[in-house]
Amino acid sequence: MAFTYRFANEKDLPSIVEIENEAMSCPWSLKSYEEAISSDHSFIMVAEDDGQIAAFSVFYLTPPEAELPDIVVDEKYRGQGLGRQLLTKSLEELETRGIDTIFLEVRVSNTPARRLYESFGFEEIGVRKYFYSNPVEDAICMKFERTI
Ligand SMILES: CC(C)(COP(=O)(O)OP(=O)(O)OC[C@H]1O[C@@H](n2cnc3c(N)ncnc32)[C@H](O)[C@@H]1OP(=O)(O)O)[C@@H](O)C(=O)NCCC(=O)NCCS
Repeated sequence: MAFTYRFANEKDLPSIVEIENEAMSCPWSLKSYEEAISSDHSFIMVAEDDGQIAAFSVFYLTPPEAELPDIVVDEKYRGQGLGRQLLTKSLEELETRGIDTIFLEVRVSNTPARRLYESFGFEEIGVRKYFYSNPVEDAICMKFERTI
């Protein structure tokens, strides 16, 4: 499937919130996404399939570092390489902004996400105990460092 990658705008927010609500037990609020698209220190990248939002990633930028607090692929598009493509495009965008180090947290039980991150070279750097709620769970902290 051929997806289009671009930055999110206000019109994308209802779709983003819907995808987030379906995927996450503690979903982000609409306001958090509004702030992420309106700030110069963050961006949301979306993957679009024929006008429909299929996935999105959120980054907070503090060059030369960034944080990846949220990446979600709509359930019906999972397991087809879209998460990998979106993360690839996002990392390319970060590189153009002089960012070479990325941090994130992920639930211990979130095997799909952990495998995805590991396959990009993210490494475990620590554990935050009881970081998540609903259900309470530890977070694995991961770090990516561009080598070339
Ligand atoms: C994590 C997520 C973004 C992956 O997106 P996706 O489009 O399904 O992933 P892809 O098809 O691109 O797969 C990329 C890699 O992820 C890993 N992966 C994806 N689904 C997996 C699964 N069900 N089990 C194990 N590993 C999996 C694999 O390493 C895979 O590489 P491979 O196909 O070469 O084995 C998606 O599952 C998702 O949106 N989950 C809910 C939201 C979430 O948990 N986000 C992360 C918050 S930290």
